[in-house]
Amino acid sequence: MEKSFISRIKSLFRADTPYLITRSFSLRMLPLSFLAGIFICIAIPASYYYLGRANAGRQAAVHANYIASIFREVLEKHPLAWKEEINTQLAVANITRIEIFDRNNNLIAELTSGSLPAHRWSMVASEQKVTYGGSIYALVKVGISLEKLQNQTLMLLLFSLACGTFEGIALFLLPIFKIQDAEEQINRSHRKLLDEQQKLKTSEEKFRTFFEFAPDGTVISTASGRILSCNHAFREMFQIDEKDFRSRNAKDFYFDPRARERLLAELFEVGEVKNMEVVFRKKDGSELPALVSMKLFSSRILKEEDGLLENENVLLQTIIRDISEKKEVEKQLAQAHKLQSIGLLAGGVAHDFNNILSGMMGYAGLIRLHTPADKDVHQYAKIIEKAAIRGSDLTRKLLAFARGGKYLIEDVNLNEIAEEVLEILAHTIEKKIVILKDFDPDLRNVRADASQMNQVLLNLCINARDAMTGRDRCELLIKTFSVYLQKRNFSTGEVCQPGEYVGISVSDTGSGMSQDLLSKIFDPFFSTKGKGQGTGLGLSMVYGIIRNHDGYIDVISKPGKGSTFVIYLPAALAGEAGRGDKAAGPDKKYAGETPGGTETILLVDDEAEVRDFTKVLLGEKGYHVLLAEDGEDAVAVYRSNRDTIDLVLLDMIMPKKNGAEVFYELRKMNPEVKVIIVSGFSLDYQARQLLRDGAAAFIQKPYRTDKLLLAIRELFAQQQPGWH
Ligand SMILES: Nc1ncnc2c1ncn2[C@@H]1O[C@H](COP(=O)(O)OP(=O)(O)OP(=O)(O)O)[C@@H](O)[C@H]1O
Ligand SMILES: [Mg+2]
Repeated sequence: MEKSFISRIKSLFRADTPYLITRSFSLRMLPLSFLAGIFICIAIPASYYYLGRANAGRQAAVHANYIASIFREVLEKHPLAWKEEINTQLAVANITRIEIFDRNNNLIAELTSGSLPAHRWSMVASEQKVTYGGSIYALVKVGISLEKLQNQTLMLLLFSLACGTFEGIALFLLPIFKIQDAEEQINRSHRKLLDEQQKLKTSEEKFRTFFEFAPDGTVISTASGRILSCNHAFREMFQIDEKDFRSRNAKDFYFDPRARERLLAELFEVGEVKNMEVVFRKKDGSELPALVSMKLFSSRILKEEDGLLENENVLLQTIIRDISEKKEVEKQLAQAHKLQSIGLLAGGVAHDFNNILSGMMGYAGLIRLHTPADKDVHQYAKIIEKAAIRGSDLTRKLLAFARGGKYLIEDVNLNEIAEEVLEILAHTIEKKIVILKDFDPDLRNVRADASQMNQVLLNLCINARDAMTGRDRCELLIKTFSVYLQKRNFSTGEVCQPGEYVGISVSDTGSGMSQDLLSKIFDPFFSTKGKGQGTGLGLSMVYGIIRNHDGYIDVISKPGKGSTFVIYLPAALAGEAGRGDKAAGPDKKYAGETPGGTETILLVDDEAEVRDFTKVLLGEKGYHVLLAEDGEDAVAVYRSNRDTIDLVLLDMIMPKKNGAEVFYELRKMNPEVKVIIVSGFSLDYQARQLLRDGAAAFIQKPYRTDKLLLAIRELFAQQQPGWH
């Protein structure tokens, strides 16, 4: 209470200082002005009178001396006639009044100057004794009238009174006039001060808001790392409390403290640091990549507020831009590019490899056909064929990864696919693994190849199973759901188009994966499983298939915590064609002796090996074979033999003219032409289009000899399109 009173008084004093000074000055001046007034009123006339009177006294003494000397002279010259003589002599003296007495004090002579009446004889100013022969002869008294001096003094007194009063009043009032002026000045400067304060406050608020809500972390510290101020973004980045930051040192936030030293070295050398990449350490110990800019500055206020030491006169402003998201996107992009280029490479290799395998498989088939079944060579040929089939299985997976194409596109319900896969798993999976289902009963369909989806899910489930071997808690959860996705990034680096998607996720409680492992799992042939246990193509294939269906994969995994693979496929639009849209019929198995025929077949393939063995194979089975080694050749051969050619075996990828171009030219020449499409790639959009436009069937290379013969035979028999 007391304190507040005192402080109020103090503040009052502070606020009105100039006013009070003027007022107190004025009050202090009061006695002074009073004294000055009195001095002027009294002292000046009094002094004048006193000095005038003293002067008259001196004059009287001089005259008294003078007269006494005359008297003495006269006495010496005319001792007897001195009375007569003295009267004559005294007539020259210009004094107010002179009286001379004898030794018996009788007035013997009297002299007055001017017309001064006796009653105004005012004073005896001086006396002089006149002695002669050792005896006093006379006493000379000289008096002077003070009337004039008194009149003058009176006049002066009146004048001084006027002056003194005026001076007293003026001297007292002067500061009071000044007060009004000062008050006005105070008011003005007070208003100005308030104005300035308001401006300063607004500006301070503005800059504080900028500082506080800047998206980049900003911190002001000393060179030794003592933090004086930091903004919201900085506190968020490092999860520090608003009150806590003063107890922290800026050095603690760097992952490697040497990084700060490097920054400071650059700062002191160049004067500033711009966007240097530095890794910080978050509260949970994880890394925070950031761009750092630094500047030197000095602030007297901060220094005073924070009580900085003498050696802390250099302050640093550090701006930290979190680039972890950018880094993540860069990493994902690199991953997407990597997968894309590996896909291209794998596709190219698989294509050539398929042709090589076709030759191997074909000739092995021929050898098998030519040798009796009990001969060793027959068996060897079979082994070669088997090996080639395994090889082609690999290339098939590789091609799936390389986005080789979709087979049969139809409306597929992923719940059904999941059920099918779970049925297969039920027979193969350990009993220890608990399988959990969370299916959305209203799941929308997707446009997909059901068998490929089957493969995708099976691969994911088998991976999950493998990841859980030897672990205590084994749970495999398959979940389906419909979702609307905004534009977003996936761990594989793709960015999705916003829209309706159907999701299916496979979660396990297995080993989980590190970041490093996660960046490699989609690479073809990457496997952590032992030799002979995994080819490392499972996820590559999954990736290829899903991307080929315009879908996306996301992986969430933590070492020791398990993994979740989520697949998103665009939801089918209502009204899209259903299962009837199949491009070709299902693979059929034929039994018994592979049949032949006598028809003429135009065999079009740019690979000499494939041409050669197929020609031998078909020739042996009784067919008449015409050959063409590229697209243009095929058109020319067909043109000159159109009446005799019953079937064209048409490769898709060829120089000069590709399979599709050849197909349409042949159709122009003969709308009834029978064409079997042959391709190393699985049935893609283009091949499916050809089937729709009248191609009879599709066979994927490398094909087994008997499969080809059966397909041809079936075609001639049924004249129906089919898939082999
Ligand atoms: N659910 C999972 N949990 C932990 N690691 C996984 C999981 N799925 C895949 N992986 C890791 O990714 C690697 C690659 O998987 P991918 O399916 O491509 O090949 P693979 O399973 O090793 O062999 P393949 O599938 O060809 O038999 C695996 O070896 C494994 O290390
Ligand atoms: Mg696998």
